[in-house]
Amino acid sequence: MNAPILVAEHVTKRFGSFTALNDVTCAFHKHQLTAIIGPNGAGKSTFFNVLTGATPASGGKIFFEGRDITSIPQHEYARIGIAKSFQITNVFKQLSAHENVRVAAQMRTARFDFLRARASFKSLIEKADHLLERVGLAAHRNRIASELAHGQQRSLEIAMALASDPTVLLMDEPTAGMSPEETTTMMNLIRKLATERTVILVEHKMKLVMGLCERLIVLHHGELLAEGTPEQIRTNDEVRRVYLGKN
Ligand SMILES: Nc1ncnc2c1ncn2[C@@H]1O[C@H](COP(=O)(O)OP(=O)(O)O)[C@@H](O)[C@H]1O
Ligand SMILES: [Mg+2]
Repeated sequence: MNAPILVAEHVTKRFGSFTALNDVTCAFHKHQLTAIIGPNGAGKSTFFNVLTGATPASGGKIFFEGRDITSIPQHEYARIGIAKSFQITNVFKQLSAHENVRVAAQMRTARFDFLRARASFKSLIEKADHLLERVGLAAHRNRIASELAHGQQRSLEIAMALASDPTVLLMDEPTAGMSPEETTTMMNLIRKLATERTVILVEHKMKLVMGLCERLIVLHHGELLAEGTPEQIRTNDEVRRVYLGKN
């Protein structure tokens, strides 16, 4: 197995007196499509937020490529190579698909490139087109985001996340609220993206990830319940008891 690319060590997250994550230790490996699963309320989104720097942990450490990133500011995450798409769709509704991706690409390059802003405008346009193509939205380039179907908005969000050329892409319930057709399209996109970078997926529908992911991490009541291959998770008695019965 490859060296771990992202590591959580004894990560705890409290909201007041409530412990949403309790001493979670696990590793994500390079080029391995991993899903974090668990019933609603298990702490998946909280873990996602801590891993992506959106929420500070109350305790524990996060390492990326061997470096302690526990305390780095949120905006540094994209620069070091970690990108995310949240559970809630997060696009600029009044901008076109192409403008959304262009803005995302621009935010990524602005700090390094602003003196060459004019020269790089063309490359931003090209990059946005390339990313729209990548997620299957080339034909919808000029449509206003709010007019796109829900599944297309989620794909657009992924194109925006890819604008920073991330080493690791994390997605929180990318298929939430999708029709079966949209879900299939999204699963195919995730499979494709996972061939070129490390993808980490939060999902509560376990069946969906069984045929897709190489490794599963199961959270329950904020604790790491199990981790392993889909087969190991499927046959894990504790997982079956707390999870399979419910979904
Ligand atoms: N900002 C917050 N303040 C207080 N409690 C929270 C907050 N965010 C999440 N929680 C609680 O933490 C638990 C885990 O939530 P969450 O991480 O969203 O679970 P999941 O994504 O697995 O459904 C839930 O009981 C939820 O109510
Ligand atoms: Mg969630």
